[in-house]
Amino acid sequence: MLKLPFSKKLFPFPDGWYVLLKSEELKNGEIVSRKFAGKDLVIYRTASGLALAADAYCPHMGAHLGFGGMIEGETIKCPFHYFCFDTNGNCTKTGYDSKPPAKAVLKMHTIREVNDFIIIWHHSKNEIPLWEVPLTDNKNWTEVLTTDYELNSHPQETTENSVDIGHFAIVHKYFDVKELHDLNINGPYLNAKYAFSRKGGILGNETISANINIHVHGLGYSFVEVDIPQYKIQTRQYVFPTPTEEGKIILKIGMSVKRIEKPSQVNPFLGLLPKNLVNKIILNKAFKGYCHDVSQDFDVWQNKVYIDNPALALGDGPIGKYRQWCRQFYSSEINEN
Ligand code: FES
Ligand SMILES: [Fe+2]
Repeated sequence: MLKLPFSKKLFPFPDGWYVLLKSEELKNGEIVSRKFAGKDLVIYRTASGLALAADAYCPHMGAHLGFGGMIEGETIKCPFHYFCFDTNGNCTKTGYDSKPPAKAVLKMHTIREVNDFIIIWHHSKNEIPLWEVPLTDNKNWTEVLTTDYELNSHPQETTENSVDIGHFAIVHKYFDVKELHDLNINGPYLNAKYAFSRKGGILGNETISANINIHVHGLGYSFVEVDIPQYKIQTRQYVFPTPTEEGKIILKIGMSVKRIEKPSQVNPFLGLLPKNLVNKIILNKAFKGYCHDVSQDFDVWQNKVYIDNPALALGDGPIGKYRQWCRQFYSSEINEN
């Protein structure tokens, strides 16, 4: 790719929380291998249901725990010489019942299970978590449908979509886009609110107007509340870009819908169907539309360069303010001397 003189390489792994898996993707006793921030990890669930993440390579002689490793009770057992490691990474047992070597400590990573997702903390200077992702009350909401896309991009680039007002009309064909308040910034939290209209709604090709409230918790976790007053429908959208290796992310997106109590309010025909079916139909239709809209950005994201000092114009949205907010996630670039 042509490297422009004013383009800059973004440090690939900004500090923050990143989503690894949906909780239901990891059953008790299961081990999943994942690349994250340039490292090979195993994510696993013990017999009691505790989710953990560790370096994939056994500290004894380097076998990959994701290939033949086993969960035994609360430990993970390496397939090569049957060393077992407890939830702190300490070796509790060798395959020969000899004394576990003190040096054989498996590196564990800080994870949480929040809102039915398994999230991992990453910090370039190994700080413990500087903030938490807030809990969302899921009562009266449907399940969250999700899908994953592997993309050549960066979490700062995909999250910048939330403030790139100019592209809403051009890439997504939204119209009457209005910023409902200025960017609200509080430490690692950023909030933006817009109203817009689009062709092609929940039921067919009608025009819908929506209000969206975007909550960004660092560059890896965005949660978007969408309100469509004409149908009394509310949806929630999740946007999780997780860096795997330099220049690559897995973008997990998700959606749930607030359970509709009176389907006839949406459409008289829907009033004839069982409520659960209506919720399923609306969730599936809305999710399809959401996947379509997100994928409209892929060609730009995957082929662009990052320009540090963009030539901004009126109508772009608060890109500068966003970029300044992003700086806090690059402890790797802060020189302490
Ligand atoms: S390499 Fe894991 S037990 Fe030997
Ligand atoms: Fe976009």
